Amino acid sequence: MGKTYLLFMVQVHLNFRRAELESLADLFGVEVGNWDQYDENSPFLKVELANDEQARAWIRRSVLTRAIYEFWGEGECYSKLHENVQGNVSFDAYKLAYRNGSFKFEFDSFGGSSSGKLDRVACIESFRYLDFQGKIRLRNPDQVFTVIEEYEPINDNVAGEVPKRIFFGRLIQESDRLRGALEKYDLKKRPYKGTTSFEAELSLVSANIAQVQPGSIMYDPFAGTGSFLVAGGHFGAMVLGSDIDGRMIRGKGSQTIKANFKKYGESLQFLDVLTMDFTHNSLRKNLTLDTILCDPPYGIRESIKVLGARDPERFAGKENVEIDGQKAYLSRDYIPTKRPYSLDALLDDLLQFASERLPLNGRLAFWMPVANDENIQTVIPLHANLELKYNCVQEFNKWSRRLLVYVNRGPAYNGPTNAGHERSQTTFRDRYFSGFN
Ligand SMILES: C[S@@+](CC[C@H](N)C(=O)[O-])C[C@H]1O[C@@H](n2cnc3c(N)ncnc32)[C@H](O)[C@@H]1O
Repeated sequence: MGKTYLLFMVQVHLNFRRAELESLADLFGVEVGNWDQYDENSPFLKVELANDEQARAWIRRSVLTRAIYEFWGEGECYSKLHENVQGNVSFDAYKLAYRNGSFKFEFDSFGGSSSGKLDRVACIESFRYLDFQGKIRLRNPDQVFTVIEEYEPINDNVAGEVPKRIFFGRLIQESDRLRGALEKYDLKKRPYKGTTSFEAELSLVSANIAQVQPGSIMYDPFAGTGSFLVAGGHFGAMVLGSDIDGRMIRGKGSQTIKANFKKYGESLQFLDVLTMDFTHNSLRKNLTLDTILCDPPYGIRESIKVLGARDPERFAGKENVEIDGQKAYLSRDYIPTKRPYSLDALLDDLLQFASERLPLNGRLAFWMPVANDENIQTVIPLHANLELKYNCVQEFNKWSRRLLVYVNRGPAYNGPTNAGHERSQTTFRDRYFSGFN
């Protein structure tokens, strides 16, 4: 293998962190050595990668990683760190490679902060054995060398005071997170949003795990205010959405999904949104949908409805009603009748649709809410052509939601299926409104 790199990740959404890293590695063909060293309790991971290009491709889009560094050394204290850096098998080669370029030093930390206590100038001086001859340049230097201190927090609220480990490395790539993606897509600053809008961080993570690709087509069949369309657009996909509720799709005045894309400077990524019942889907069958990413209705803030009559017998004949000599359903302000539908049936429809429309190895990713009752088993929907790749859980107090990610393997896959069964014994809506008691 090539070289050792140091990943500096964030300690949030741990259930999603490895899935994001694996999905990005797979998407960009990055071979990662040392996965066995991965530890959920640590923000650091040393990995073997072929070269810097691979490291950049892997981490550039990550949301749950901060940055990746070429690993130069580590130690429990500064003297051990210096010993380790100088003992690195690549030390002489590294020293030579960066001897004459411009550079700067940066400091970062986890679990505590040395700010104010560490004499940074003296710390930089202590690396004088690197013998860099180039200019120190604070803006756009050729190389950034980073000292990262890891502290053991005294408790949840009190930061540790003495670092337990110090790393030193050359910055290879800052992630999307460090380059400001969360601030850019913060819902507070979004022109068009609603009660169903999905927060920026996990919608971007979802798009990464779904392997949304630049130039591909991503579809959200329950688009609402378009949170996942925005996430897909950010990663360069051409995005298309639909929703049964035309008001959500149209927005109001200047507050529209299109306006969001304009604000983000990503109008070219926005194909369109249409008002459509997903279960009566009118997208032509041979339209390639490379990725499907969505947040189906849970029945909490929005009901699960499909086109049709609740009581077809009573409705019979009413579809032929005419107003001023024209069939009522052809008039622009006609509101079609709708009937309630179950989440189980809707998810079966979604899996079936994905199996028919995704290319081989294309991904379907969607969120599913679950009540955390100990005595109710969560049954994940399965389809014979789809491999369930990830089941990432975000816990709340009495309920949780899962990001389910499937890969279309085609009919030859012949996996287990549970379509057509009532998987949820009580509806999530009922459990939610009864306070999960
Ligand atoms: C949880 S919300 C999705 C919110 C969306 N992610 C956003 O950013 O606002 C579910 C959406 O599904 C829509 N919906 C409900 N039944 C539908 C159906 N049969 N076909 C299409 N959309 C439907 C609702 O109108 C709602 O906007």
